[in-house]
Amino acid sequence: MSEIISRREGNIQVLTFNRAAKMNALTREMYAGLANGLNEAAGDFGVRAVIITSEGDHFTAGNDISDFLVNPPTGEDSDVAKFLGSLLEFPKPLIAAVKGNAVGVGTTMLLHCDVVIASPTAKFSMPFASLGLVPEAGSSYLFPLLVGYQRAVKIFFTGESFGAESAREMGMVASVETDPLIAAMELAKAIAVNPPQAMINTKALLKASKHDAVAAVMKAEFELFSLALQSEEAMEAFMNFMAKKGKQ
Ligand code: COA
Repeated sequence: MSEIISRREGNIQVLTFNRAAKMNALTREMYAGLANGLNEAAGDFGVRAVIITSEGDHFTAGNDISDFLVNPPTGEDSDVAKFLGSLLEFPKPLIAAVKGNAVGVGTTMLLHCDVVIASPTAKFSMPFASLGLVPEAGSSYLFPLLVGYQRAVKIFFTGESFGAESAREMGMVASVETDPLIAAMELAKAIAVNPPQAMINTKALLKASKHDAVAAVMKAEFELFSLALQSEEAMEAFMNFMAKKGKQ
């Protein structure tokens, strides 16, 4: 079974992280699967909205740390860079249904989604600095814009996590629902009955003023992130995680 499941329900495409035993930590292959899923949905006239969700109790524990060690993504042709590019350019309504841990890119990807629906169990965190890394996916721009500089910097500097209600109050989550996937599907169906080009144009207008700034920030973040990945600070943090998990 693929670690990214792409299935169609009517005119809704659902992309599901399917690596629950590893808390859906994202590998290169999974980023490639996500990028393909988004690109195919963008080009398929029959798809009116996409939902990103997960198997198991958690959304994702972020980038797979073993992959960071073995295959650090340093180029713009890396699978993670391609996924983030597809996310930034995705033209149709994009909804996320989130439960449990959403770590690192598990939180930053949500800043690109049009609607995020969270379970009361959702727990968001961006522990980049604690890992010797820097924020990615445009989050160093989008997160302070959303929640204010002071709150954003506190979260980035400490790596502290926050729950579904805080995320809703910050404007990062639209609503908190016991079953976020059911709620996401209901919303996607309500969107899907509307004229599709009007949806695409509406999204383009809403995103237009920030698009170029986000693209530029993502590029700068990626350069720093690539350097940081090979730093002693990051290596030490990754080794500590692996050692704790008995992998070394
Ligand atoms: N990369 C690779 N494997 C990961 C992972 C990651 N980012 N996050 C979790 N896993 C694996 C664990 O190694 C474990 O596998 P194992 O049972 O084979 O040892 C499994 O997923 C479950 O995780 P575990 O750590 O046992 O769960 P927990 O409830 O004790 O802790 C977290 C949950 C999220 C706090 C913890 O897994 C964690 O800190 N993960 C790393 C998060 C991270 O730093 N991501 C990168 C952000 S850039």
